[in-house]
Amino acid sequence: MILMKRKYFHFRAVYMIALSVALTLIVNAQVWKPDANIERRVDSLLALMTLEEKIGQLNQMDARWDPEQRRNVITPEQGELLKKGLIGSYLNIIGAEVTKDFQRVAVEESRLGIPLIFGYDVIHGYRTIFPIPLGTASSWNPIAIESAARIAATEATTAGLHWTFAPMVDIARDPRWGRVAEGAGEDVYLGSEIAKAAVRGFQGKIFSDLTTIAACAKHYAAYGGALAGRDYNIVDISERTLRETYLPPFKAAVDAGVMTLMSAFNEISGVPATANNFIMTDVLRNEWGFNGFVVSDHSAVMELLHHGVATDTAEAAVKALSAGVDMEMVTGFYLKKIAGAVKSGKIQVSVIDESVRRVLRVKFALGLFENPYRNCDPSRESKEILTQKSRAFARELAGQSIVLLKNEGNILPLKKDMKTLAVIGPLADNTMDPLGSWSAQGRAEDVVSVLQGFKSGVSSSTKILYSKGCEIATSDTSSFAEAERIASQSDAVVLVVGENRDMSGEAASRSMIDLPGVQHDLIKRIHATGKPVVLVLMNGRPLTIPWEAEHVPAILETWYLGVEAGNAIADVLFGTVNPSGKLPVTFPRNVGQVPLYYDFKNTGRPPSQEKYTSKYLDVPNTPQFAFGHGLSYTKFEYSKLTLNKKTMKRNEPLIVTAQVKNVGTRAGTEVVQLYIRDLVGSVTRPMKQLKRFARIDLKSGESKTVEFTLLPEDLMMYDIDMKRIVEPGKFKVFVGTSSVDVIETEFEVGR
Ligand code: NOJ
Repeated sequence: MILMKRKYFHFRAVYMIALSVALTLIVNAQVWKPDANIERRVDSLLALMTLEEKIGQLNQMDARWDPEQRRNVITPEQGELLKKGLIGSYLNIIGAEVTKDFQRVAVEESRLGIPLIFGYDVIHGYRTIFPIPLGTASSWNPIAIESAARIAATEATTAGLHWTFAPMVDIARDPRWGRVAEGAGEDVYLGSEIAKAAVRGFQGKIFSDLTTIAACAKHYAAYGGALAGRDYNIVDISERTLRETYLPPFKAAVDAGVMTLMSAFNEISGVPATANNFIMTDVLRNEWGFNGFVVSDHSAVMELLHHGVATDTAEAAVKALSAGVDMEMVTGFYLKKIAGAVKSGKIQVSVIDESVRRVLRVKFALGLFENPYRNCDPSRESKEILTQKSRAFARELAGQSIVLLKNEGNILPLKKDMKTLAVIGPLADNTMDPLGSWSAQGRAEDVVSVLQGFKSGVSSSTKILYSKGCEIATSDTSSFAEAERIASQSDAVVLVVGENRDMSGEAASRSMIDLPGVQHDLIKRIHATGKPVVLVLMNGRPLTIPWEAEHVPAILETWYLGVEAGNAIADVLFGTVNPSGKLPVTFPRNVGQVPLYYDFKNTGRPPSQEKYTSKYLDVPNTPQFAFGHGLSYTKFEYSKLTLNKKTMKRNEPLIVTAQVKNVGTRAGTEVVQLYIRDLVGSVTRPMKQLKRFARIDLKSGESKTVEFTLLPEDLMMYDIDMKRIVEPGKFKVFVGTSSVDVIETEFEVGR
């Protein structure tokens, strides 16, 4: 057992808190496999079910919202369906009492009494809203991300829920795509580590525990590859790119025991994901051994008609179910058409049985048969939601999610006791947008705005002057003069600008990713006052801010930080917290460079001064801010990069150590990053690939040796024959503070 666990021992930062590492190991689950007892119970139940009841288990519905009662109600039609056992799941019904009403009909008034499973989008918190996933990814702290998911699960289960449609593990390399906000960014390894952490957090250790919810890795697959960043657009990629870039975080989620996946809206090279036998059956079930179920995305089975791969509703239903979509979200095609398709021989009952088995397994594992009302206790709701402890944790995680992009002349941290501070910008006194998209039951009234955070962050003698300056996205400049006036009366100015929360998330792609409205003009006007300016960005994607990057001395990327936004920003700006966040995604200089990501390939004509090389005439190939970039109020120096051997066999581990020293005057936390490059392969390889990272704390003057163990699988690639192997030859290994600021050495893998 211990030996088996060793396999999962991915990194060992010598001085890291041993306990946290140990905990990660203990909860590092394996592909979820229900025990024999559950399998027996599933089989016996299946044997009792009619074809209609089986199809009912594959049918997920939403319920009618009654605006007068302000709750979901059971319509007479749905009441009938429930009594006949024709609904297996609901989404978007929230509340201990409401879910109990629905559950009672399913359990007590249907023939077999099979419990419903209630799902909801608990993406970055239920009521205690944490930073958006792109924000928490900036912490590079999977242990904290796991804890946030645990809190979210605990809160969600007080409201009758059993299942979250999270984590979104789509790799996103095009910042025009609004859903970049919902995932962990552009990198395969970071994304995979975060996927595992989120699954562990949501699902806990014991599935039947009252605070466990089933996780759902979505959107399977390659949704982030949408052409031109336009949501729902086609994805045309090679199998190699699919396997190397888009699938690994899903595989990681499956390996961590995720119980469900959601099929994506997009097509992959001509075959819609929701009718894609290759990804859902060949890869997911046959290669990876996944035992849980796949739910379609909202209406995605119906959308097979729009994709043009099905002539009618029956064909769409048959294609999706046969390919491996077990449960259909909301459009009811399965319910209406699958029984007929069985009669006409278009689908075998055995296919339906297999899907029902997968759904029932999850219901059994969650303990729903023993306790269908497991999450219907209203007394938990008031006690376990938005507790002081959760808020304190949200503040800490929000602090870790902030990325200090620039700090020229060390103008940050600001003095807490400065005489007058101007706070300007449409996002400064704003309590709605910090919630970000998909904010579940988050409420504006729970959010600490930047202005409030600053008021409690500065000394009692500091005067804070505030002006909105402008709206986020209009052309109105009438408040510029007032903003300039207060800026000139102050010792420093903090400008809080960005996007509103609806500008990222689903169906929120932008063709231009600069600061919307007249915010850029406002910044220029305030900058012209000559006062020290700090830019606080609030947004759900990388933005193009070339002028600001050049002229504004200090810039913080804060994403949307959730309920504790203002406090966390104040903590960092006034130096109570030393920033440690690192970008999980590249910031381009302009939108024409997109997609731009760090693990690019060299091409046959790498950029140089020569004319006929791969570059633009009007912008460098380099990003504005690179993947992994993020400053601290102190400085870290890297040295002594050593390997335990210079040549190794293909099946051997390699131990890489480097010394990191805090050469500044303050204590700080550094995210140490390890990248590799396979120099020559049977196919081309990226210039750098992240393979390990570790967060370490260093006091001023302190040095630590960080040790990473690279395993053979870290060097693997899909070779020219699409076999996953380690190819012999030379590799570079880089260790550093970002993807572009590293020290390097080489090793060789023998035959
Ligand atoms: C559509 C979104 O794509 C998906 O992420 C979400 O989980 C479902 N709707 C359910 O709300």
